[in-house]
Amino acid sequence: MSKKAWGGRFSEQPEDWVDAFNASVHFDKALIQYDVQGSIAHATMLAKQNIISDDDCHQIINGLKDILKDYEEGNLSLDVSLEDIHLNIEHELIKRIGDAGGRLHTGRSRNDQVATDMHLYTKEEVTKIIELIDSFKQTIVDIAEQHVDTIMPGYTHLQRAQPISFAHHILTYYWMLNRDKSRFEDSLKRIDISPLGAAALSGTTYPIDRHETQSLLNFSSIYENSMDAVSDRDYIVETLHNISLTMVHLSRFAEEIIFWSSAEAHFITLSDAFSTGSSIMPQKKNPDMAELIRGKVGRTTGNLMSMLMTLKGLPLAYNKDMQEDKEGLFDAIHTIKGSLRIFEGMIDTMTVNVEYLQQTVYNDFSNATELADYLVNKGVPFRTAHEIVGKMVLWAIQHNIYLLDVPLNQYQEAHESIESDIYDYLKPENCVSRRISYGSTGQASVKHQLSVIKQQYNTN
Ligand code: ARG
Repeated sequence: MSKKAWGGRFSEQPEDWVDAFNASVHFDKALIQYDVQGSIAHATMLAKQNIISDDDCHQIINGLKDILKDYEEGNLSLDVSLEDIHLNIEHELIKRIGDAGGRLHTGRSRNDQVATDMHLYTKEEVTKIIELIDSFKQTIVDIAEQHVDTIMPGYTHLQRAQPISFAHHILTYYWMLNRDKSRFEDSLKRIDISPLGAAALSGTTYPIDRHETQSLLNFSSIYENSMDAVSDRDYIVETLHNISLTMVHLSRFAEEIIFWSSAEAHFITLSDAFSTGSSIMPQKKNPDMAELIRGKVGRTTGNLMSMLMTLKGLPLAYNKDMQEDKEGLFDAIHTIKGSLRIFEGMIDTMTVNVEYLQQTVYNDFSNATELADYLVNKGVPFRTAHEIVGKMVLWAIQHNIYLLDVPLNQYQEAHESIESDIYDYLKPENCVSRRISYGSTGQASVKHQLSVIKQQYNTN
C-alpha cells in the first residue's frame, strides 16, 4: 500500500524533488497544535453523532495528544513525501493506533482542516498582537506623562514650524496604535469563524454536527456556505493589511527616532542596549533597531501584495495556490511581534534630552506665527500681519539673529503697536501654553488628552 494518503489511484510515485516542490510540511508544521486541536474536536463530534465509536474516539484523542507531545519534545520526524502537517499526523496516527486512526478523516477534507487550523492560528496570533499593541500604548502614555512640559520643535516639511510639547508629539503615535488595535479587534469577527465540516467543498453525507465542533473549538460563528468556508482567505488578507499598516506607523516613528538620535538633532539618546556599533568607526552608535523596523515594512507590505495576487482570479473552491497563504502570514506575524517588542523597549530606555530641546527651540523662527498672532490681537488683519512678520524674519536672517533678539525699536518700526511685552510673548514655552484649542499642544490641552486616554482605559 502506498504511503501517500491519496496513493490508491496512482500507479507511479512522484520523484523526491517533485514531492519537495509540492510539500508544505517544512512551514505548516507551525500549525501542529491547531491541527491536533481541530482533529480532537472533529473526532469528539464524530463519536457524539455515532459516526465513530467512543473507543475509536478515545484512541484517536490519546494518539493525537501523544503525537503532539512527541513533536514538542523533538521526538517526531516529519516526512516531506507526506506533503503537509495534516497528512504527517494522520499517517503517524494510523501507524500508532491502526484502523481507529483511519476513521479520523471521516466527513472531513484537508480543505476544511487547513482552513480550521489557519482560523485558530490567526485568531490566537491576532490576540497576541493586540496585547503587544496595548503594552506599547501604555509605554507611550508613561513617557508622555513625564514630558508634558518638554518643549521641542514641531515640523512640517521637516522644516521647523511651531514649538510643541514632546508629550503631544509622541501621543500622536498612541492614537495611531489605538486605531490599529481597533482594526485588529474588529477583524476578529471575520477570523473567529468555523469552517470545519465544510469538507472538500460541498459538505458531507455523514450526519455531522458543525455547530458542535464550532463550540468545541470556541469559534464565535460558523460559515453558512461550505464553499465559502474552504475558499475564504479574506481574513488573511485583512490581517496582513492590519499588520502592514501598523508596521507603516512603526516605520514613521522609527524614522523620527533615527533623526532625533542623530548629532544634527540630538533630541534623544538611545540606550546602548538598543543600539549597535560600527566595525570600522569606533565612535559610532547606530540606531539599528529603528532602521530594521523601518526596513521590515518592505516585507510585511510585500506579503500583503503577494497574498492579494495569489487570490486574484482563483476559481472556487480550494486550489493548491492557497498553500501560498502561509509563509507570508507567518513571516508578517513574526515580524510585527518582534518589532512591537523591540520598539517598546527602545523608547522605554531612551533618554529625552530635555535641556537641549529647551534651548534648541530658542534657536529658530518657529515663534513667527506668534508674532503674527500678537499683531492680530492688536487689530491688524492676519494677512497684513503675515506680511509684516515675513519681512521681519528676513531682516533677522540678514542680521543673523532670531526674533527674540530683534531690538524693540526695530519692532516698532515694523508696526507701532508692538510693545516690550513682545519678548515674553515670543518665548517658545509661552507659544505652547497659549495653545488652548481642543486637542492642541498647550500643556492644559495635553493634560486633558491624557485624561481622555485614562478614561478609555477605565471604560475598557
Ligand atoms: N497543504 C495544503 C494547504 O496548505 C493543505 C490542503 C490541501 N488540500 C488538497 N486538496 N490538496 O493548502
